[in-house]
Amino acid sequence: MKTFRIDGQTGNCEIILGESISNLNKYCNREKTVIITDPNVNFHYGNLFSKFSVIITGTGEECKTLDIIKDIYKQFLELQVDRLSLIVGIGGGIVCDITGFAASTYMRGIPFGFVATTLLAQVDASTGGKNGVNFEGYKNIIGTFNQPEFVICDFNVLKTLPHKELSCGFAEVIKHAVIKDERYFRYLEENYSEILSLRKNEIKKIVQDSISIKTEIVQSDEKEKGNRKKLNFGHTLGHGIEKIAGLPHGEAVALGMIFASNFSVLRGILQKNDGERIKKLLKKFNLSIEVKLNKKDLMNAIKKDKKRHSAFIDFVLLEKIGTARIFKVSIDELDVAIDEWVMDVG
Ligand code: GLY
Repeated sequence: MKTFRIDGQTGNCEIILGESISNLNKYCNREKTVIITDPNVNFHYGNLFSKFSVIITGTGEECKTLDIIKDIYKQFLELQVDRLSLIVGIGGGIVCDITGFAASTYMRGIPFGFVATTLLAQVDASTGGKNGVNFEGYKNIIGTFNQPEFVICDFNVLKTLPHKELSCGFAEVIKHAVIKDERYFRYLEENYSEILSLRKNEIKKIVQDSISIKTEIVQSDEKEKGNRKKLNFGHTLGHGIEKIAGLPHGEAVALGMIFASNFSVLRGILQKNDGERIKKLLKKFNLSIEVKLNKKDLMNAIKKDKKRHSAFIDFVLLEKIGTARIFKVSIDELDVAIDEWVMDVG
């Protein structure tokens, strides 16, 4: 087993790779443990939760609202959850977000941990301490920075995931390589078919490399004042696309990364060939590289992005594969660049 640590201002987090979900008991030594999970995870692994109280959430981004949090608080009260309790979110990014936020705000914060059961959650969403819910069309606008005590990544659970769900995780894997590590990017280019067939060593390597990149960046800038913004590569447009086209997060981020690469080429800071390599790699991992969108809707969604300051937005662009930089980009400039890219159907 390999472990990583984040020593944050809000607490310390241990990320344990290769641990089995069936060893969950080992981590639940508090007076009371409450599990928060979704119906799919409960269907596959519910038999392992019999010793604990279980709260079932909905599925999909639409359920990530304050309503579900209110419902969880009520169940916490009924179960007499207090600061001596432990809350464990077992699921993908949505379960992690909801669990982290509910636990961080109930009684001003109670301990929590995660078992990440999707590739996207293992390589990205479970780690970093950001959690929250959507509100009035603004994504993740209500939330906290608060580290989980632990994150367990069991590679075996990935075998039951649908291909589409896996591809979403691969999008974040590619993002990590693109912003931070050209060698990792080349590894993905050369080993994509082994990775796609979920060969154990290759999966171990990509989860490990991605977590290593993510923890290093989070450790350097937990509250996202600077360096951590690089992890938002592809996400400004991605969040807009996710909302208006109803695509899953990873698929939308893949399209956002293609736009951000094109934009970097357009600004003359990235070689065209590098942009092509990124597009090709996303395609190899079965991610769509084209989408039909209504540009007006997309611009409206982007304007709701919480990273926007007045007429400017912090936008992550590439200087080369493995090197990202944050630029203040005007909404007007973005508008023109999107014009060049989007096939407007509005
Ligand atoms: N929970 C995801 C992050 O902190 O980036």
